[in-house]
Amino acid sequence: MLKIAIVGATGIVGQQAIVSLLGHPWFEISKLVASERSANKKYIDALRDANGSIRWWCPEELPENIAGMVVEEASTFDPTSVDVIFSTMDAGPAKELEPKYAKTTPVISTASAFRYETDTPILVGGVNMEHAELLAIQQKNRGWKGFISPKSNCTIAGLVVSLKPILDNFGVKQVVATSLQAMSGAGRTPGLSAMDMTENVVPYISGEEPKVESEPQKILGRLAGDKIVSAPFGITATCTRVPVLDGHLVCAFVQTEKPCTPEDVKRVMVEYGKDFAELHLPSSPPHLIDVTDDPFRPQPRMDRDKGGGMTVTVGRIRKDPILENGIKYVCLAHNTKLGAAKGALQTAEYLVKNFLKWV
Ligand SMILES: NC(=O)c1ccc[n+]([C@@H]2O[C@H](COP(=O)([O-])OP(=O)(O)OC[C@H]3O[C@@H](n4cnc5c(N)ncnc54)[C@H](OP(=O)(O)O)[C@@H]3O)[C@@H](O)[C@H]2O)c1
Repeated sequence: MLKIAIVGATGIVGQQAIVSLLGHPWFEISKLVASERSANKKYIDALRDANGSIRWWCPEELPENIAGMVVEEASTFDPTSVDVIFSTMDAGPAKELEPKYAKTTPVISTASAFRYETDTPILVGGVNMEHAELLAIQQKNRGWKGFISPKSNCTIAGLVVSLKPILDNFGVKQVVATSLQAMSGAGRTPGLSAMDMTENVVPYISGEEPKVESEPQKILGRLAGDKIVSAPFGITATCTRVPVLDGHLVCAFVQTEKPCTPEDVKRVMVEYGKDFAELHLPSSPPHLIDVTDDPFRPQPRMDRDKGGGMTVTVGRIRKDPILENGIKYVCLAHNTKLGAAKGALQTAEYLVKNFLKWV
């Protein structure tokens, strides 16, 4: 079994990483790591708030052996004590600590700190695995034995999966996207207040729109030598926060290069991702995209856990009446599963099998 450390283990994504790794056939949780605030406490005590209440947010029970593990501090944690590191901390500490870890050890990160570096791919399961080759260039450039492989922003996790078959078959000229994002996307600290979120919609998420407007082009770009050439289309986005626990919904309006019908789009989405599914990675779902004809779906509560939270649900595919070659649809992805912890686990599985060849 390969030993895993989760750095940022007390957060929402870290908790989801723990749950995703339970019973994993290749990986075992060996270290739980977080900030000075949690260090040297039993994990269960590090989860307590000022009132002593345990802030464990997964529906799964916290196993006793994990609850009793003593949390290590990220700044003094020894990366050579494990085989692979899951970094689920905030971008600030990630910027400083991930390169220190990567000198010796592969780091799979959900933080944005390294997403925009030219020698760093943003891997999304089944979409751009060929970009993994860039990690060898990163290792060479930086003299690292390990590497940093960041996940995408959670809002675009479903959008890029749905755009890929459209891009491959009809080309994409531009995308207009409006997101309705779940509260868990804001993390535990500082999190969102019930007074702000109950019976309300907040029309702004700090720092989110620039990520949504730039990451898909890199992910859907082409690896050319030692860099990725971004896909040449524009995206404009409005990102909103809605009173939903988990599951980011995106309303997408896509102008394609070639004309296509809603039936064409449905067909290419349904057929998409079979090669990737055949790799049989433990965290991969049987279908990357599930297309529904029910005009009332996708809905977060009903659809976010499809494929173990790793399937994107697309619905309401229809012709746009004003965009030339315009198609519009709604897509939904689980933000802390596909969009964060379990997506990172899937990336780790792919890299361990196909890049490092350790299993
Ligand atoms: N939530 C999502 O849906 C989602 C989706 C995709 C990506 N992400 C990204 O994933 C990361 C984690 O998000 P989250 O929602 O889990 O946030 P969170 O709930 O606020 O958790 C943050 C984690 O980072 C740790 N941390 C904070 N400062 C640290 C430091 N100086 N050194 C080491 N660890 C430190 C915290 O430890 P303490 O408890 O000890 O403070 C905690 O474990 C962020 O970069 C976020 O942008 C989140």
